[in-house]
Amino acid sequence: MLELKSVSKTYPGRNGAPVRALRDVSLFVNRGEFLTVIGPSGSGKSTLLFSAGAMLEPSEGSVLIDDVDIYSLSPGKRASLRRKKLGFMFQTFNLIPYLSCVENVAFPAILEGRSRRESMEKASGMLERLGLEERLGHRPGELSVGERQRVALCRSLVNDPDMLLADEPTGNLDNLLTREVVDMFRDLNNDGLTIIVVTHDLRFARMSPRVVKLLSGEVECDHAVSGGMMYQ
Ligand SMILES: Nc1ncnc2c1ncn2[C@@H]1O[C@H](COP(=O)(O)OP(=O)(O)OP(=O)(O)O)[C@@H](O)[C@H]1O
Ligand SMILES: [Mg+2]
Repeated sequence: MLELKSVSKTYPGRNGAPVRALRDVSLFVNRGEFLTVIGPSGSGKSTLLFSAGAMLEPSEGSVLIDDVDIYSLSPGKRASLRRKKLGFMFQTFNLIPYLSCVENVAFPAILEGRSRRESMEKASGMLERLGLEERLGHRPGELSVGERQRVALCRSLVNDPDMLLADEPTGNLDNLLTREVVDMFRDLNNDGLTIIVVTHDLRFARMSPRVVKLLSGEVECDHAVSGGMMYQ
């Protein structure tokens, strides 16, 4: 499903040395896998997710999705592949401020050509499952951070992607909501969704059959554990 081949990413530094955010990272993720990426702040987790998500071209190396080298595609074709196959949940949410919650979630479905009514119904159902039934008409600026996070999660899933890339999906949620999101991810994965989640939350690491740890832009370890009980 996803392959990173010797991916490195160097950001130009501001008045200083360039930042080497990823160094020679190789990773193979099969269809249906549930992979958790952990590592300290600044270790390159978001950079890895952006590169895998067809949004950030590596400085070196290549990224293959279903055997297609995505950065050799034209920007238009790459965007289309991203819309069709990938769901992306940003660490900073990136919701559209002048649209309501339900419109934010429905928007990618409408862009994909589904009817407004069907898209809005699907969006409402997803938001209700995460306890936002009272907030459907609110704009992102009227929501708490945890509420925005759940809206962003629903939006990433509305087009039924093959692979979900989620950056800290429970970073601002309390225990009960974290449980709900973890359960939701487990259900989605059982239904065949490939998931890569970046998290500080050991609950994900615990339920995850495979955990990759980044350190200073390098894969420090890549553990596949049956039962996912490695990080107790
Ligand atoms: N656009 C950018 N320009 C320059 N440097 C960047 C840019 N984005 C990230 N970096 C740097 O690259 C390194 C990796 O950043 P990244 O956001 O991938 O880390 P992270 O593991 O996601 O951290 P966190 O857990 O805090 O979200 C950091 O040192 C960061 O300062
Ligand atoms: Mg990050």
